[in-house]
Amino acid sequence: MNNNQTVGVLGAGSMGSGIAQIAATQGHQTILVDLNEAALAKSEASIQKILARLVDKGKIDQAEADTIFGRLKFTSDITDFEGCGIVIEAIIENLEVKQKVFAELERITGDTCILASNTSSLSIASIASACNKAERVIGIHFFNPAPLMPLVEIIPAVQTSEETKDTARGLIDGWKKVTVLTKDTPGFIVNRVARPFYGEALKIYEEGVADFATIDWAMTELGGFRMGPFTLMDYIGNDINYTVTETVFAAFYYDPRYRPSFTQKRHSEAGWYGRKSGRGYYDYAEGVTMPEPNKDEKLGTTILNRVLVMLINEAVDALFLNIASKEDIDLAMTKGVNYPKGLLKWADEIGLDNVLSQLETLQSEYGEDRYRPSVLLRRMVRDNKTFY
Ligand code: NAI
Repeated sequence: MNNNQTVGVLGAGSMGSGIAQIAATQGHQTILVDLNEAALAKSEASIQKILARLVDKGKIDQAEADTIFGRLKFTSDITDFEGCGIVIEAIIENLEVKQKVFAELERITGDTCILASNTSSLSIASIASACNKAERVIGIHFFNPAPLMPLVEIIPAVQTSEETKDTARGLIDGWKKVTVLTKDTPGFIVNRVARPFYGEALKIYEEGVADFATIDWAMTELGGFRMGPFTLMDYIGNDINYTVTETVFAAFYYDPRYRPSFTQKRHSEAGWYGRKSGRGYYDYAEGVTMPEPNKDEKLGTTILNRVLVMLINEAVDALFLNIASKEDIDLAMTKGVNYPKGLLKWADEIGLDNVLSQLETLQSEYGEDRYRPSVLLRRMVRDNKTFY
């Protein structure tokens, strides 16, 4: 794959639009296909606006903006993908629709064209199974907004060839993204390891330990996270975040570690999605003052530690199960969701024995499998080891 090859992007929503912008900026002729003309028009206008802003800021000049925009073709005709070197799919998150589309892409494109999915939650193996040449199918998972977030998860399915994997990763590395390699398991790295950031925060709230504002304050002020969990869930949308949690929970055969929260479900059912609906955990109506946190340091530390050890446990377990390398697990969380530190590095710093003993205390108090420490954590403490 080189810059002379055309990149196809299917789906001109928020992700497809961002991915097409990246490909065109990196020098590729880029074809963006969507069945919905309104979505195409919106994407075209939004990319134009972003390029204009980059010119205003002096990041690129007008000629460059024109060149980038000139490389983009917006169309509703999927057969335009015929000569593409790669097609990246970013349509609605529905397995049957994606399978149908991949079978169609295989008919339209040449034999060597890589077919990639940007899915967040579906298995790449099941998408690939719709193709005769499943070895050329792979997951390439960008984060939102794609042009700004450096991380991209590369997910070979069991069927994916080494050549497809190497070519896809090489291409995305060439786009100056930080790629991490992950197994085709639910949530890949980020959406798996990050679950407790939401789930444990919601549980702490439900138990009446603290309110939303206090939990957010503890995680940002004491933990150094860029956004607190409730602010972040309101930003992502409680409908979307809840669905991801439910999907991951079911995909892990209902492991209690990933159990969704009624609080989030009710917020979603009420239409309190967050910023996009004007109300979520917080009220975003004009003139409403945000609630003040209780800045009790002892309480804040208890909250932070409880969420942090759960996050670390998740990261350690992902390493234990060979989902990704320790470097990639840490990179994924710092570059994909802006964590202040890699979780395994963080674990070394606060002491693995400390993490283990906090988890053991939670597990014995609650009597819940949710808090079971990873076997790898136990072994490392027993052998007096650190991750780095
Ligand atoms: P979106 O709803 O903004 O855009 C989807 C677009 O696909 C729409 O414009 C729709 O008209 C089009 N579409 C639907 N079916 C189509 C078909 N058969 N042929 C052509 N176009 C079709 O969705 P969004 O948020 O961009 O997500 C797209 C994919 O990216 C999903 O698989 C999602 O799980 C994944 N993803 C989303 C992230 C996010 O934060 N929104 C982050 C990473 C991945």
